[in-house]
Parts: sequence; structure tokens; C-alpha cells
Amino acid sequence: MKAAILGFLLRSVNAAVSSTGFTVSLTDVSYFLPPGSIATISVAEELKVAFSDGPFVPFTVVQSTSYNAAEISSVAAKYLTEDDVFQIGFLEAIYIQCSENQTLSSSQVQIGNITSTVISGATITGSLNPGPYFMNAFGQVYEAWRLYSDTNGAFTESVIANPHGEFSVLPAGTMGQKSAIAVPSRLYFTKTAEKPLAGVRMGIKDIYDIKGLRTSNGNRAWYWLYPPANNTATPVQNLIDAGAVVVGKMITSQFANGEVATADWVDYHEAFNPRGDGYQDTSSSSSGGGAGAAAYPWLDVALGSDTGGSVRGPAQVQGIYGNRPSHGLVSLEHTMSLSPVLDTAGLLARNPLLWKEAAKAMYRSNITFSSAYPHSIKTLEWPTTSDNVADTLLIDFLSKLTTFLNASATPFNVSAAWTTDNPTLDPIETVLNITYPILISKQQIPLVRDPFYADYAAKHDGRRPFIDPVPLVRWGWGQNSSHTVDEAITNKTTFMSWINRTALAPSATTCSESLLLYVGAAGKDSTTYRNLYRAEPVPPSGFYAGSISGFAEAPDFVVPIGEAPYFSEVTRHEEYLPVAVDFMAAKGCDGMLFQLIADLYDAGVVRAAEAGRSGVTGGDILFRRGGRVEEEFA
Ligand SMILES: *[C@@H]1O[C@H](CO)[C@@H](O)[C@H](O)[C@H]1NC(C)=O
Ligand SMILES: *[C@@H]1O[C@H](CO)[C@@H](O)[C@H](O)[C@H]1NC(C)=O
Ligand SMILES: *[C@@H]1O[C@H](CO)[C@@H](O)[C@H](O)[C@H]1NC(C)=O
Ligand SMILES: *[C@@H]1O[C@H](CO)[C@@H](O)[C@H](O)[C@H]1NC(C)=O
Ligand SMILES: *[C@@H]1O[C@H](CO)[C@@H](O)[C@H](O)[C@H]1NC(C)=O
Ligand SMILES: *[C@@H]1O[C@H](CO)[C@@H](O)[C@H](O)[C@H]1NC(C)=O
Ligand SMILES: *[C@@H]1O[C@H](CO)[C@@H](O)[C@H](O)[C@H]1NC(C)=O
Ligand SMILES: *[C@@H]1O[C@H](CO)[C@@H](O)[C@H](O)[C@H]1NC(C)=O
Ligand SMILES: *[C@@H]1O[C@H](CO)[C@@H](O)[C@H](O)[C@H]1NC(C)=O
Ligand SMILES: *[C@@H]1O[C@H](CO)[C@@H](O)[C@H](O)[C@H]1NC(C)=O
Repeated sequence: MKAAILGFLLRSVNAAVSSTGFTVSLTDVSYFLPPGSIATISVAEELKVAFSDGPFVPFTVVQSTSYNAAEISSVAAKYLTEDDVFQIGFLEAIYIQCSENQTLSSSQVQIGNITSTVISGATITGSLNPGPYFMNAFGQVYEAWRLYSDTNGAFTESVIANPHGEFSVLPAGTMGQKSAIAVPSRLYFTKTAEKPLAGVRMGIKDIYDIKGLRTSNGNRAWYWLYPPANNTATPVQNLIDAGAVVVGKMITSQFANGEVATADWVDYHEAFNPRGDGYQDTSSSSSGGGAGAAAYPWLDVALGSDTGGSVRGPAQVQGIYGNRPSHGLVSLEHTMSLSPVLDTAGLLARNPLLWKEAAKAMYRSNITFSSAYPHSIKTLEWPTTSDNVADTLLIDFLSKLTTFLNASATPFNVSAAWTTDNPTLDPIETVLNITYPILISKQQIPLVRDPFYADYAAKHDGRRPFIDPVPLVRWGWGQNSSHTVDEAITNKTTFMSWINRTALAPSATTCSESLLLYVGAAGKDSTTYRNLYRAEPVPPSGFYAGSISGFAEAPDFVVPIGEAPYFSEVTRHEEYLPVAVDFMAAKGCDGMLFQLIADLYDAGVVRAAEAGRSGVTGGDILFRRGGRVEEEFA
């Protein structure tokens, strides 16, 4: 009887326990070992003693063309510079995959001043890409993912893919923040035509569903009310299919409405902008994507969304590349709506070539790259006299671009041109003044607010969920307004057809007749301290350069061009903030713009942004060391 009960208990306990992975530290660097070994290796006699120190032994798989100690050593040295997950601790033992038949004569190989044990005569079941691994005493091999601290609070949740295409929350933490982000070794991946984003580490704004994870939309009540998503949003799935590694969900202002730190951000905290003094607003709503891509060398690309500037704002103030695409380039199923007639999925990245690759994978056949460029540049409110650093950069950039394109640049005044062409209509500032707030409030109310209120009330005895001040004010204003969505769409369409005949006209040869440029960020003029008390929120009315692309459904791409000094109220010291330019072109010319920016990069006119305090020189965030492995261990 007793034995039977014990047997039952053992069985049920057995059934309840499943590994969620392991967290280990190797020379003070934290690693995550995803559950499930990926291969088994016969443990060499010489390694058995190493397990007396702990359950795992680090080792490296080296792919070498010959069994030559010098070559093996140089391959291992290359791993150190190419991969931030790799470190010399993994050279405790090496397994050599070599096309030659002979083996090293010695059971040890000298790599710099490290003596590494060669795992000889081992047989492996399963296949191993080169790079760092851990093995246990049974010879089971686990991947090594490095754990990074989310110092800038850019993520809502740290995630990891499960073997069957679903995701779960990463069960690991590290110092500094509640969540640690795990990234796999870059050495495991080889980019191919089918997997052009193999190993590219990506963060996803938390308005896109990912199968297996809850979505928050920046609202705590929403996060807990609904079960984990059963589907993955199309833009995310397209990126995953191309090989991207999703490492986390990223901070969004609530329901993708624009919020300014700090008072607006009640449910979740705004991410921290790494640039300058570290206490500037990140802009929103893709706050986490912009901050993460600007702050972390270990994060390659972030997926944001742009309805009225939610990718462009964070890209501008954090000095990285960011695109609002032409409307409708990728479908947005399983994604929260703000205004379906304006919503778009855009990408944030430091490197313009990787940014372009990711766009190619995400927009698929809806993007066409072309390299015949317009010879006309129209500028909006461009500086003409260079009496400060930002204006000098902007004037110099326009001059280089004009030369590169063999183009002419002329100022364009939207208000004046509109009035000239449409003398019977109201000024553009009147026609489009409330178009945006009407669209976002009156479209989001039935799509998001009302079903949410109903579901929450049904589950919680008629209660209403907490809503941050900004969406609440916008919805309230929209509900009270007698203006309609149809009226707003009519105004939008009138503007779109006009600008399509003027500043954003299509061209059969160069896709767009002109490029339309405006100043995205101007260094010291762009300060928005996150610790100021501000006026209470009002609906986002008004018309400005950044409104054009949304109403015109046209692409609007942010390109960082440098930075300018300002005197920080926080550090009481001179700091630097980004200077950025926005490029617009006719609807559908996204591929032309991506190609142009890639060509400007190849020509040295634009550069990849650095991660850290400065987009130009990098630098510590908050005077904390950046912490690449080779700096710490070389
Ligand atoms: C390696 O050894 C196998 C079996 O002995 C032989 O068939 C093969 O040709 C050898 N390969 C090379 C590159 O020498
Ligand atoms: C190993 O060599 C590196 C330079 O390559 C040096 O910085 C380090 O101190 C050396 N370590 C030991 C233990 O000698
Ligand atoms: C996912 O599917 C399950 C089972 O059909 C359902 O109970 C759940 O509500 C679905 N999740 C969402 C977010 O719709
Ligand atoms: C192209 O865009 C259309 C309209 O948004 C969408 O339905 C379609 O799925 C997109 N095609 C691809 C390959 O993404
Ligand atoms: C630049 O454009 C002008 C006229 O627009 C043309 O005459 C000239 O040949 C062009 N030069 C180059 C190098 O394309
Ligand atoms: C554009 O034109 C309007 C008049 O329609 C004028 O008030 C405004 O100052 C002009 N803007 C610039 C930057 O010249
Ligand atoms: C735009 O709308 C706001 C909010 O209704 C109003 O306060 C403002 O006066 C309007 N401006 C113009 C130019 O119509
Ligand atoms: C549409 O344009 C008219 C004419 O200028 C204006 O009175 C109205 O407020 C606009 N409505 C919206 C929703 O944009
Ligand atoms: C809506 O209108 C009513 C009646 O005029 C007013 O009492 C209420 O404050 C308004 N609500 C908002 C959010 O503007
Ligand atoms: C712009 O006008 C062209 C005709 O010149 C038309 O083919 C195209 O669809 C229009 N695009 C937009 C965005 O209105």
C-alpha cells in the first residue's frame, strides 16, 4: 500500500517537472542554456575531471580547414572579435570539425596563452554549428545564450522561442533589471538566400501578437485579461521566417498613443533614451524599440509601428535609422489598431544595410528596390545659415546629397503651394488640423476600447479597466466630436491627391519625381527632459512636416547624420543629441529610398549609428562600461 502511494507520488512529481533551461555564470558573465540538448557527445576521458567543478563544462566547436594548431588558434581568435557571446572561457575544451582526416597529434592546443583540451575521438549525435556550447556529464550539449541586462528598460518581456514555433517568457534574470535578455551566439548562424536574417537579434513592439505570449499594448489590465496569443502577427512572422531571432517584446506607449515621460506613462515606465544625458524623452510610441536599438550593441533591429510618427520620433531623437513605410506594405493581422487607414509597420536599426535587409524580408514582394534616383530635392524649412553645429551638419549634408544625385535642391512651402493650387479651399492648417485625432480616436474606440471595456466588465463585475491619461483624453474628445471618420478620410484623400501631383509625384523612371526632405532632429533644439511637469494631455491636432507622409500614405525615412552639443540641465555638462534628416518620396518608393540610403552608406555620406551615449562615437550609457566580452577578458 505504502509503496503504491509512493510510486504514484513519484510519477506525478516526475510528470510535473520540466526543464525551463539553466542559468550559469562563466568568468562572471551570465549565460542561459535553453532546455533541450541539441546533440550528444561522447565525453572524453580527459574532460571527466572538469565536471568536479559543476554540472556543465564550456567548450567550443571550431570549424577549421586543417588540423593545424596555428589555424585553429586563428579561427578561435576570430570568434572572439565576431561574437559577443563567445569568450575565452569557452576555450577550456575544443571540438574540431575538420575536412581533413588526420587529427592533432597532441591532446591540447595552445590558443594565445590559453591551453585548450582537444575533445578527440568523440562521436557526436546531432550536428553542431561552430561556436560556444556547454556540455553536461552525460555529454548532452546545450547552446550558450548570453544574458544582458535591459539597462534602459526597453523591454516589457524577455522571450525565447520554443521548438514548435511558439514563444515563452525567458525564465532568467540578471543584475540591474528584473528581466534579462538572452541572445544566441552569432557563430551559430550563416545567412543564406532563404534565411537572410539568420541570427539577427530582434525586439518586437508589444502591440504585435506572438504565439504563446501575452500582448500588453502598454496596458496592464489588457495583459492580464486576455490569454496568450494563438497567432503571430504577419510582420513578425515574416521576419522569423527569414531567420530573425526574437529576443523580447518592447515598450510601447499605451495603445500606441503618443505619451511623454513621465506623468503620461502610468501603467508602464517609458524606456530610457541612451543619448546625451540619458534623461531625454524617447519619443513614442515605439519607445522601447528606439531606445533598445540605440542603446544595445547586442540588439540589431527593432520592429515598431508608425501611425503618426511612432517609428520616426524614436528614430529621430535617438539617432538611428527608422522607416514609416508606404501604407499597406505588409498586412497587420494580429496587431493592435490605432487607425487602420494610417497604421504601418516600420523598423529601427543602427545599420542601414541590415535595416534594408530586414525590410526586404518583412515587406516581401510589396517592396521593389531600384537605383535610378530623382534629380530634384525639395526641402521643407531647411536652414540656410550655419550659425550652429546642427545647421552646419544639415547644410553640409544637403550639399553632399545634391552632389551625389546630381540634383538641384529647392525649398518647398506646403502651405503656400496648397493655397496657390487650391484657392477655393481652406488653408491646409485648417483642412488637416483635426484629421489625425479624429481618425485615431474614432477608429480606435470601436476596434480596441469598446471590446476591451466590455470584456473587462464581463469578467470583473462591471468594472472599467485603468487607462492612461493620454488615450483616455483622446477617446473622450473623439467620442464627443461631431466630426466623422468619413469626413477625415475625405480631407486626407484631397490632400493625398494634391501632394501626389506636386511634391510627391510618381515618376516612371525614378519612382518619385522628387525627394522631399525635412529636419527630423536638430540636436539642442530637440531636448525634451523626461523629468519635467507638463500640461495635461490634449488631442494631437495641427499640421506639420511630419504629418505629410501619413496622410499621403507615402514613405518617410529617418536618417541620422550626426549630433550637436547642448548644455544638459541634468549633468551640468555639455552633452550631444542626434541630428537627423527625414526623406520622403512618392507612395510605393520605399525600395528606392532603402537603396539610395544604402548607396549613400557605401559612398561614405551616411554611417551606421553607434550604440550608447553617442550615435557617432558610442560611449558608455550613464557612465557604465559598455561591456563587450573581449574588452573584459582580452
Ligand atoms: C578520409 O578517410 C576516408 C575513409 O578512410 C576516405 O574514404 C576519404 O577519402 C578520406 N578523405 C580525405 C580527404 O583524405
Ligand atoms: C593572456 O594574453 C593577453 C594578451 O593577449 C593578456 O592581456 C593576458 O594578461 C594574458 N593572460 C595571462 C593569464 O597571462
Ligand atoms: C486561443 O485559443 C484558445 C482555445 O481556442 C482560446 O481559449 C483563447 O481565448 C485564444 N486566445 C486568444 C488570445 O484569443
Ligand atoms: C502586400 O500588401 C497587401 C496589402 O496590404 C497585403 O494584403 C499582402 O499580403 C502584401 N503582400 C506581401 C507579400 O506581404
Ligand atoms: C547632371 O545634370 C545635368 C542637368 O540636370 C546634366 O547636364 C549633367 O550631364 C549631369 N551630370 C552627370 C554627371 O550626370
Ligand atoms: C510658407 O508660406 C506661408 C504663407 O502661405 C508663410 O506664412 C510661411 O512663413 C512660409 N513658410 C516658410 C518656411 O517660408
Ligand atoms: C486645431 O484644433 C484645435 C483643437 O480643436 C484648436 O484648438 C485649434 O484652434 C485648431 N487650429 C486650427 C488652425 O484650426
Ligand atoms: C475637413 O476639412 C474641413 C474644411 O477645411 C474642415 O472644416 C474640417 O474640420 C475637416 N475635418 C476633418 C475631420 O479633418
Ligand atoms: C463631452 O461633452 C460633455 C458635454 O458637453 C462634457 O461634459 C464632457 O466633459 C466632454 N468630455 C470630454 C472628454 O471632452
Ligand atoms: C498618384 O497619381 C498617379 C497618376 O499620376 C496614380 O497612378 C497613383 O495611384 C496616385 N497615387 C496616390 C497615392 O494617390
